[in-house]
Amino acid sequence: MSKRGIFISFEGVDGCGKSTQIKELRRRLRGMGDRLVLTREPGGTVLGEDIRKILQSHADGPEIDDRAELLLFTASRAQLVSEVLQPALSEGKCIIADRFLDSSTIYQGVARGLDGETVGKINRFAVGDCLPDVTILMDIDPADARQRLGERGVADRIEKLPESFFRDVRDGYLQLARAEPGRFFTVDATDKIGAISERIWNMLTERYNGLLD
Ligand code: TYD
Repeated sequence: MSKRGIFISFEGVDGCGKSTQIKELRRRLRGMGDRLVLTREPGGTVLGEDIRKILQSHADGPEIDDRAELLLFTASRAQLVSEVLQPALSEGKCIIADRFLDSSTIYQGVARGLDGETVGKINRFAVGDCLPDVTILMDIDPADARQRLGERGVADRIEKLPESFFRDVRDGYLQLARAEPGRFFTVDATDKIGAISERIWNMLTERYNGLLD
């Protein structure tokens, strides 16, 4: 069997503070050097970044069909898996992913209301057996998250969507986390940055004792 690395994904509603926590974790793992791989979705490959641009450039045009949107996200993901994630894991590297397949399960399958079973099948088709070992869910009330985005001056993108959309996203994530307690680690994203980072770090070092040096 090929050597297997560690795959950590971060998920949560827009404005939950994922990026800050990813930076914190990256700092703690800096000793890993190039054995640490960071990715974001959509993106992470040339094709994926092109898909990200397509999604962004259509934000002000005619609305992207929900199914087309799902297929664009999952196309980016499939490329990321084959070009970056699979090779990194087989070389025993540690991956930190800013969003992965759960984002489609929740945003497209729950909040956009596409058929959950179909989204699941398309997700599995895109990723095969490349699944996160641990998923950190940054849980926050969408109203608080929206306020944070407003303070950063980036709220307009999501202001087009009703608040109920983000409540569905939050509830969907919490339900998923309850269904897969072995994989999900849910943190209260309203805590102080340092406290959240410490909780995540303690969980990871407990699980992967010695593998993150
Ligand atoms: P991004 O710029 O990554 O935002 P953030 O840093 O806040 O996560 O944009 C990602 C947006 O795309 C976010 O609103 C979630 C959405 N998304 C989906 O709807 N489905 C997906 O599969 C993915 C990966 C993201």
